[in-house]
Amino acid sequence: MSASNVDSSSAVETVTIALGERSYSIHIGSGLLRSPESFADAPRSSRAVIVSNTTVAPLYAQTLQDALRGRYAQVELIALPDGESHKDWATLNLIFDDLLAGGADRKTVLYALGGGVVGDMTGFAAASYMRGVPFVQVPTTLLAQVDSSVGGKTGINHPRGKNMIGAFYQPVCVIADLETLNTLPMRELRAGLAEVIKYGPIADAGFLGWVEANLDALLARDASALRHAVRRSCEIKAAVVGQDEREAGLRAILNFGHTFGHAIEAGLGYGEWLHGEAVGCGMVMAAETSARLGLLHGRDAERLIRLIERAGLPVKGPDLGADRYLELMRLDKKAEAGEIKFVLLDAIGHSVVRSVPDATLCQVLASRCT
Ligand code: NAD
Ligand code: GLY
Repeated sequence: MSASNVDSSSAVETVTIALGERSYSIHIGSGLLRSPESFADAPRSSRAVIVSNTTVAPLYAQTLQDALRGRYAQVELIALPDGESHKDWATLNLIFDDLLAGGADRKTVLYALGGGVVGDMTGFAAASYMRGVPFVQVPTTLLAQVDSSVGGKTGINHPRGKNMIGAFYQPVCVIADLETLNTLPMRELRAGLAEVIKYGPIADAGFLGWVEANLDALLARDASALRHAVRRSCEIKAAVVGQDEREAGLRAILNFGHTFGHAIEAGLGYGEWLHGEAVGCGMVMAAETSARLGLLHGRDAERLIRLIERAGLPVKGPDLGADRYLELMRLDKKAEAGEIKFVLLDAIGHSVVRSVPDATLCQVLASRCT
């Protein structure tokens, strides 16, 4: 893989999230971080604070600081410890400590520079610091560009359950610079592909076919393939979030594979498997559940599982024991009165939300765990 693959065009594409007065744009392009104009949607103020981590800050914080200097008299940096295991209260509190120590006020604009962990924590900090300050998402992983930076879910993990503490809080804009994907480790690129793959089965059979045909190009970081994958993923997510911002119903489909996946992440301990790996394996389990319930043709389930495997994602889950999986899944945010709700498929491109008998879940776990 050449490190310069992701940089073929200067064109900027924009996807809009339509949420009335909270509407905003996702700008997608190469080299956006270097350009002050990329940040024209962000409010002007005397101060901006970039929240990043110890891996991403050395790569991109200076470039972002330089781009922001014309908009703010002061641009500060907070570099958090890196990793899913740090998506917790203690690390969140580091952001508040620094904001307070530095005199950040209600007009201070936060910039989340990093992957989904930094984005979710910065968004939650922005939602709650002085009861809410504006924030900008600057996603630097494929997963964050196609999913976590978009739609306003923010928060942290609890040892008992994934993303259990948080808030819906929308950014003022999202700046997805495709060039940043050049430095992403291969394992992280594959993890991001899990969320790209997700959009086809839940909402767009044509996009699933496109991902199947272009998977090798995506894995090779072909610039135009990545650009299309990010844009189409954001379009699908924007359409869903625009109809159901706070997950009263439809938005749950974006959690396809996540009920199983979150159980894997919490059960193994956060950071053992990457979020995207757990979601990939969770989609395998959800596809098999759909087939066992007679909702989805077995060959369609197999088609999806083959693609997840080709992407280099795990198709066998860790053996936590069925009881532990069920215990963890009962904590899922979609559960009602202890009854777990699963996003399942009744066709490629169409999802449904259903409860599933424990006996079926045990069969799936027995066949899909090593
Ligand atoms: P991550 O934030 O941990 O980033 C992955 C790794 O890549 C980290 O080590 C990070 O430092 C590094 N990194 C980031 N950008 C880099 C770059 N350009 N070059 C080199 N290294 C880079 O993980 P992620 O996969 O981006 O996000 C996962 C998180 O997102 C999970 O906590 C998940 O719950 C959350 N998520 C949230 C939503 C949402 O709607 N809010 C949706 C999906 C996932
Ligand atoms: N990633 C799931 C959602 O944004 O709703």
